[in-house]
Amino acid sequence: MTVDVDVIAIDGPTASGKGTVASLLAQQLGFHYLDSGALYRLCAYACLKHGVDLADEKDCGATASSLAPVFKEGRIFLEGEDVTEAIRQEAVGIAASKVAMLPAVRAALLGVQRAARKAPGLVADGRDMASVVFPDAKLKVFLTASASSRAQRRYKQLIDKGISANLRDLTRDLAQRDERDRKRAEAPCIPAPDAHMLDSSGLTVDETVATVLAWWKRLGA
Ligand code: C5P
Repeated sequence: MTVDVDVIAIDGPTASGKGTVASLLAQQLGFHYLDSGALYRLCAYACLKHGVDLADEKDCGATASSLAPVFKEGRIFLEGEDVTEAIRQEAVGIAASKVAMLPAVRAALLGVQRAARKAPGLVADGRDMASVVFPDAKLKVFLTASASSRAQRRYKQLIDKGISANLRDLTRDLAQRDERDRKRAEAPCIPAPDAHMLDSSGLTVDETVATVLAWWKRLGA
């Protein structure tokens, strides 16, 4: 692991705004950006495509180990197929939270995530960035937002992407996904003891980014 490269870990529940905030921070700091959720989504997508039972740890782990996604010009390809939009579907998110419960899947994806730690720095977004993947991250943020504002945001994101959605179903699915992510035995989505807590319910994206940047500057970084 390239431990001398700074990492900012942004963890938090589904649709808390982590992705948007983390990628803007990376842009502003000129850092690399790791969307770790995309890896779990890619694994789930491959399992669904090949009819792998999402509860079968051995087969899901083997699928995770053999994943060879290609990230090119903002698009994601898997087995030659452009899956950029497909992996954002709610059904894939739900399947991702199922395979993410399996220790063999988490172990298989650990190396890929750590390999993203490259100079001049990395902003990593996920559930266990601060607790498991980069426990020595220089700044750890746990981003939350109320359940209703998260459901509204996810609804808007999906509609904006032309993906059909229903707010009531989304609210229920988010709650189930949160519960699975929070209660799983391996790498549960809970704040690291040394994480800064940030509730973005009443904040704009710019205000949220500015808060994290101020914490980062305070560290003398
Ligand atoms: O962040 P995103 O919604 O894309 O993640 C999809 C799912 O992948 C999450 O619900 C979670 O179960 C899993 N995940 C995880 N650990 C991460 C990132 C995502 O378990 N670091």
